[in-house]
Amino acid sequence: MAVSLKGRSLVSLKDFSREEILEILRTADTLKLERFRGQPHPLLAGKTLAMIFQKPSLRTRVSFESGMTQLGGHAIYLAPTDISIGKREPTEDIAKVLSRYCDIIMARTFGHDIVVDLATHATVPVINGLSDEEHPCQVLADLQTIGEKKGRLEGLKLAYVGDGNNMTHSLMFGCAQVGMHMTAVTPPNYEPDAKICAEAAAMGKEHNCTIEAVTDLSGVANADVVYTDAWASMGQEDEAAERRERFAGYQVNAKLMAATNPGAIIMHCLPAHYGEEIDFETSRTPNCVIFDQAENRLHAQKALMVLLAG
Ligand code: CP
Ligand code: NVA
Repeated sequence: MAVSLKGRSLVSLKDFSREEILEILRTADTLKLERFRGQPHPLLAGKTLAMIFQKPSLRTRVSFESGMTQLGGHAIYLAPTDISIGKREPTEDIAKVLSRYCDIIMARTFGHDIVVDLATHATVPVINGLSDEEHPCQVLADLQTIGEKKGRLEGLKLAYVGDGNNMTHSLMFGCAQVGMHMTAVTPPNYEPDAKICAEAAAMGKEHNCTIEAVTDLSGVANADVVYTDAWASMGQEDEAAERRERFAGYQVNAKLMAATNPGAIIMHCLPAHYGEEIDFETSRTPNCVIFDQAENRLHAQKALMVLLAG
């Protein structure tokens, strides 16, 4: 049966099946090729995307906005102070009003409950552009990137090193759905959410892969993909100094990479804090694919928007 995502929202990657994720990745590859060939693809002509931001952004904002332009549509940037989501009026009302003007809503929020609330009350698709709990759009781009570099997804091992955060959670769901083993290696007390780990592990079992969280750095052994992210996420700036102490040793560098599979690729969603979660030298090695990931945000999100609202 053909996969249809029309009218759906993407709040968490766990809501999308393996077939649905693979369909997004196939569409992303097609759109990427069309862009490189200079072939116009105005699949969302006349449509409007509302982009709500409670936090800063480079990649998410620009890739969604450029993506919408390339698809023949238009994007409206709503800065944190423009609509003051969560403060000025109920989120339910914002969802209902934006649904009368726009065809898709994308939101980057602190509380995950705000994205859930928007998706509950909007009558158009809502896309999570990062919440404190998940970052599903990044993982779609990451899976596309891994597929390009490794030629497959199933059966590979991804080791995530650093803070058990929104990236870790979405990677766990994404890996589980596509059959990629994943070990999250974090310092004690900074593990990913236990409930999410259990859900992702159960999902992984269905697709013959192991999803686990450990605190010992030996968890990176035999990794085909090493992934890291900021030790202090947006909103945790006050904890940055303490986290630098707690996370010392959990840095992606040449020594850590020596324990992984030959040819292992290095990934980071960016922005990076060089000298903390990754050293600059390692970030500039040929197997580090951070800028390919950043580029694929554009293609993966265009595919997502076309499938949800095309
Ligand atoms: N990776 C990512 O989401 O980057 P921005 O915070 O710049 O959007
Ligand atoms: N975990 C990071 C990801 C940034 C793209 C944050 O939430 O700040």
